Amino acid sequence: MALLELDNITFSYAPEEPPVLRGLSLSVEAGACVALRGDNGAGKTTLFRILNGLSFPQSGVYRFDGAEINRAYLKKQRNAKRFHQRVGYLFQNPEVMLFNASVREEIAFGPRQLGLPREEIEARVRDCLQLLGLEPLADKAPYHLSGGQKKQAAFAAVLALNPELLILDEPLAGLDRKARDRLLGLLLELRQAGKTLLTATHDEALCRALEARVLRLEEGVLREEP
Ligand SMILES: Nc1ncnc2c1ncn2[C@@H]1O[C@H](COP(=O)(O)OP(=O)(O)OP(=O)(O)O)[C@@H](O)[C@H]1O
Ligand SMILES: [Mg+2]
Repeated sequence: MALLELDNITFSYAPEEPPVLRGLSLSVEAGACVALRGDNGAGKTTLFRILNGLSFPQSGVYRFDGAEINRAYLKKQRNAKRFHQRVGYLFQNPEVMLFNASVREEIAFGPRQLGLPREEIEARVRDCLQLLGLEPLADKAPYHLSGGQKKQAAFAAVLALNPELLILDEPLAGLDRKARDRLLGLLLELRQAGKTLLTATHDEALCRALEARVLRLEEGVLREEP
């Protein structure tokens, strides 16, 4: 069974606007790696919002691990909590994800919400700071970080939840060479650990390194790219 499945999704932001997604279907197996391409404004971020339960299509069905994800499903707190633990989302603009007083607190926030024991939270914070080379910034306020640093702090906060599916909207954009190489290595490790990865990217090298199945979003539907 596919981990996630979209069946004939249509979505528009307003009734008078032309739909962004027009009968889009997608099936992703657990452990797969999919890279999404498409022009600016093609609808990649819109699609990711739907996959994360932040927007809901006007028609069509979204299933995650067999459960239909819709408003009613996510209204039940138990469902929402479990879903957001299993699906991690790195926003294209990480600013909107960061609201804690320090990078350390930002990373601890998710695990704390999950009600994990204190030692486990501390271990996850330590690991995630280290994985992204953020130790020197641990006590800094996220809103004082540079753009690239914010992106890495946001990614660390996503990883701290240890999600099965990682949805990454332009994860390498704006990163310098060193940060980029570190993140690439990390994504490869996650892939090898059996995580399912879905990323929007214009980065050819990233697609190649991850041996991703490449799909192109165009005219509201997805097409396989060789
Ligand atoms: N909140 C919104 N309200 C109305 N229209 C929106 C909203 N967000 C996006 N759109 C429109 O929906 C379309 C798809 O936008 P989206 O952000 O999904 O594209 P994208 O493929 O992620 O682009 P990029 O490569 O620039 O990130 C665009 O035409 C955009 O103007
Ligand atoms: Mg986008």
